[in-house]
Amino acid sequence: MKDLRSVFQSFVHQADHITVLTGAGMSTESGIPDFRSAGGIWAEDMSRMEAMSRSYFEQYPKRFWPKFKGLFQMKASGNHEPNKGHLYLAELEKQGKSIEIFTQNIDGLHKKAGSRYVYELHGSIQTGTCPKCQTKYDLSHLLKEDVPRCTRINEKGTECGFIVKTDVVLFGDMVHHLDTLFQTIEKTDLLLVIGTSLEVAPVNLVPQEAHYIQGLNKALVNLEPTAYDDLFDLVIHEKIGELVSDMKRKEGT
Ligand code: APR
Repeated sequence: MKDLRSVFQSFVHQADHITVLTGAGMSTESGIPDFRSAGGIWAEDMSRMEAMSRSYFEQYPKRFWPKFKGLFQMKASGNHEPNKGHLYLAELEKQGKSIEIFTQNIDGLHKKAGSRYVYELHGSIQTGTCPKCQTKYDLSHLLKEDVPRCTRINEKGTECGFIVKTDVVLFGDMVHHLDTLFQTIEKTDLLLVIGTSLEVAPVNLVPQEAHYIQGLNKALVNLEPTAYDDLFDLVIHEKIGELVSDMKRKEGT
């Protein structure tokens, strides 16, 4: 493992422009379960996925919200803190590296760690939007009622009243920032993929797209093997927190 870490360190050291793609494994060390590891949100009960879909929300919005709030620990979503992995990426930016982070996570922890260029591919748990009048709502409104409704007063002087939709990308919704992601990896020195099983399209197209880009170093840090390991120049099957701690020990920082 030692020389793999040295290669990782040299990849990062050489790179001026880094594109990072993260998944739920980035936040497990902050106390947020991932989806497909043992004990993960889907691993525990695959039927949960069906309820986290656009069609389920549209058919059963009143059933959707209690399930959604429970599954994603919504009440506690402001209490999680960035871990060593989030802070490491924010630190690289402070050292002057150009870093753009594309995350599948909805927990907001990259921004909370201080990273400035974060694209939330699967949206954010912090906000919601009225499907009828597009009024935006923050976390406090979404938590006020079991089933959050739009309180905008319409032209008739009455409340809109529609059930608000989460801004999290549900199964069946369009993923955000994909064009930007594929354009960004074209002009980057290093693609860092951290804490994702790469099970979900279209994000799992990234390793295949990146494979054909000349001069792009590609590193994967993921606790378990993925179906795309062989498309990377470097694969480290380790917790991101352990990798960062070891590198800091080596650098004496
Ligand atoms: N360090 C590194 N890797 C880790 C860590 C850690 N501390 N903890 C877990 N992992 C790895 C697991 O081994 C697993 O392969 O992170 C990966 C997380 O994979 P998933 O649970 O499938 O999560 P993710 O890849 O983000 O899922 C993508 O699927 O259901 C949708 O919208 C949901 O955004 C999610 C998407």
